[in-house]
Amino acid sequence: MAEQILEKFKELYGSEGDIRIYFAPGRVNLIGEHTDYNGGHVFPCALTIGTYGVVRNREDRKLRFYSMNFEKAGMIETSLDDLVPEKEAGWTNYPKGVMWAFEKRGFKLTHGMDILVYGNIPNGSGLSSSASLEVLTGLIIKDTFGFDTSMVDIALIGQDSENNFNGCNCGIMDQFASAMGRKDHAIFLDTNTLKFEYAPVVLKNAKIVITNSKVKHSLVNSAYNDRRNECETALKELQKEVDIQTLGDLTEEEFEAHKSAIKDETRRKRARHAVYENQRTIRAVAALQAGDVKLFGELMNASHVSLRDDYEVSCKEIDILVDLAWQIPGVIGSRITGGGFGGCTVSIVENDAVDTFIETIGKAYKEKVGHEAEFYVVDIGDGAYKIA
Ligand code: GLA
Repeated sequence: MAEQILEKFKELYGSEGDIRIYFAPGRVNLIGEHTDYNGGHVFPCALTIGTYGVVRNREDRKLRFYSMNFEKAGMIETSLDDLVPEKEAGWTNYPKGVMWAFEKRGFKLTHGMDILVYGNIPNGSGLSSSASLEVLTGLIIKDTFGFDTSMVDIALIGQDSENNFNGCNCGIMDQFASAMGRKDHAIFLDTNTLKFEYAPVVLKNAKIVITNSKVKHSLVNSAYNDRRNECETALKELQKEVDIQTLGDLTEEEFEAHKSAIKDETRRKRARHAVYENQRTIRAVAALQAGDVKLFGELMNASHVSLRDDYEVSCKEIDILVDLAWQIPGVIGSRITGGGFGGCTVSIVENDAVDTFIETIGKAYKEKVGHEAEFYVVDIGDGAYKIA
């Protein structure tokens, strides 16, 4: 892959000078959904698909961008003196946002760059193509200018750029997984303190299968921000009775004892999800570490029910995929993954059942929904790195 992208870079920008290649992965979250802005735990892992970037320094302050995924947009030119979000800048608002966030922290970008990117994460699938582009840019800048920034800082810079330059109020999970992932491990991250632990994903005779519903409903961003606001209001209501900083501070019992402080049924459901999902995630990681893959799967299923009924971020197509998966012998667990309202499910499927899983769900989904789903049997990869 890297070879082809390098060729394209040379064709576009010429072959002279010091040309560098980087990669940042997408992610799949195994459990711990919509907990990362509620002070809870998440358990994502980096994928081996993601975004590649090829870069060469310029002597002036110009930035030239080209994406092999948006070839029609052609080469987009801007300057380090013009780091403001613009509608017509399209995808380049992501790398520009990261540059802006570096400068905001006092890092000086002293020269421009020619940049080519190519991503092999299916578009709009909820596997964090934008976070991978942000982390890729962060790594490019750190390496190009020799900045003393850790990979955790790069994740935070990516999140800052997404929140404050690109207008999506996301949590830290996606950028953290892309920056900090480790092959064959998931990251057990406390989003409140950013303390984390790598947990080996040992599924014995089973595999992780991602199923792409190939739908993305348009309300994603606004509905995401609504959920955040509902949780923030519920937290304020609870804080009148209990001394907590985040919903992640509560156990299920504490929540049940104080839930009447939340004055609205919808908000109560949202907060219940945040509290129970956090505790479920802690329990799921313990189960995996104890080798109890079956319990891990049951907790994934419970996570889906909570996201469907309490958090209401699923949709018809995703529920069809999960319901179908639950009926197949050899499926250990299956749930929606990522922000929701479309995108993908993640399932743990016994090796012997993977073919049946893909065939049965593929056929039934097409019949019920009218278009094909896509399946990826996943390898867990490393966080962002320089290739050459
Ligand atoms: C999106 C956001 C993440 C996280 C998930 C839901 O992927 O970017 O920060 O909130 O949704 O778990």
